[in-house]
Amino acid sequence: MLSNEDNIRLTRVSRGTPMGELMRRYWQPVLLSAELPEPDCAPVRVRILGEDLIAFRDTNGKIGLVEAYCPHRRAPMFYGRNEECGLRCVYHGWKFDADGNCVDLPTEPTSSKMKDHIKIGAYPTFEKADIVWAYMGPKEDMPAPPDYEWTRAPATHRHITKTYEQCNWLQALEGGLDTAHSSYLHRSKAWAGSAIRERDGAPRLDVDKKDWGYTYVSHRNSGEDGTYVRVYQFVMPWQQMRGGVTKNQQRWDYPKLDGHIWVPIDDEQTWVFNWAHGIDHNTPLPKEHMEKVDTNAGRGPDDYIPGTYIPKRNLSNDYMIDREMQKNVNFTGITGINTQDFALQESMGGSGDGPICDRTGEHLGSTDKAIIAMRNPAGGHPRCGGGQAAARLRTRKPPRRAAVRHIGSAECGLAQRDGLRPAPEVVSGSFHIPVSSL
Ligand code: FES
Ligand SMILES: [Fe+2]
Repeated sequence: MLSNEDNIRLTRVSRGTPMGELMRRYWQPVLLSAELPEPDCAPVRVRILGEDLIAFRDTNGKIGLVEAYCPHRRAPMFYGRNEECGLRCVYHGWKFDADGNCVDLPTEPTSSKMKDHIKIGAYPTFEKADIVWAYMGPKEDMPAPPDYEWTRAPATHRHITKTYEQCNWLQALEGGLDTAHSSYLHRSKAWAGSAIRERDGAPRLDVDKKDWGYTYVSHRNSGEDGTYVRVYQFVMPWQQMRGGVTKNQQRWDYPKLDGHIWVPIDDEQTWVFNWAHGIDHNTPLPKEHMEKVDTNAGRGPDDYIPGTYIPKRNLSNDYMIDREMQKNVNFTGITGINTQDFALQESMGGSGDGPICDRTGEHLGSTDKAIIAMRNPAGGHPRCGGGQAAARLRTRKPPRRAAVRHIGSAECGLAQRDGLRPAPEVVSGSFHIPVSSL
């Protein structure tokens, strides 16, 4: 459990809060590139870390991410004209470029110098892997742009989507780092499942902390098939990576790593950026296959409310739970792997705090080791949260991108009987080890 104070420290992300300041020292995914499809296209509203912003792609293709309100009389920039390398407020015609400089101020006499010192707040942006990233922290702490293995993959080997989640970012991330729930919540049969993660519902976890987060492995007894070992990475402050399933499961046809980044919209809402990266150079990820994967997760092309990233199965309709299906088919009666996740995460027990989990009432067990480590990656008391924010700010150092760039399929561990041993030659995060090899 966490104290109320630690829970608040870890979950709140507005400017000036410990976690909000930590988040602002990382490049944040803010949009899919496709949301700004061409130069001078319509601007879009963006809300990230509790800040309201407007994004636009200028005439040269450069992305601007500016304050949502005009510095003249605070009119909404959303209605602005995106034209000739700038966004023009339609109230009195003031115009700003992608860096926030005022490039036209038509309400003042031509002799006026006012234009030279008027600016609209603007954040640096960077486009990579079909994502628009933004840096919202102090200039002097700005890290190198994101350079993960999956962001370097060619378009043929990459698949990126985004989904709206109606809860605080931390409980969503915790779900992504919790291997044990997949033995229950995602059961395809009500109880008698034979799928690999259903055979042992009490996995043993080993966590190997790094300065960028950690690698952890879960070991499951898979009967005469051996030990099933699943490997995850947690990359501070919000990313999970995990391997595909083993050769004897059909997913090996398109070997890939998958992951999510849970970006806080504000304290009560989250964007989930979902990524997949084909790890075999000779095997692209076909669109049709990835659509099936998305549909299985509950985020296929037909699963969203049209024109939004909000799933049709959502909190307002109890995720269309089917109690008959729950009795006779799967564990939850809910369709879609990530829909099942959302159903649990979006309604976690609060204390009048809405969609922010109240962790003062939790009782963590042995399978929650990875969650405890995430809350406190730099050491300290295992039951004390707040470490993630406090540790990074204590050092006053920008995140270690040099280390992070090596993370991906090469940074996997292989669990052995006597503990965790790095095995960088192994290129999948999920293994099935015959008993004889242990
Ligand atoms: S409020 Fe924007 S130009 Fe006046
Ligand atoms: Fe899940």
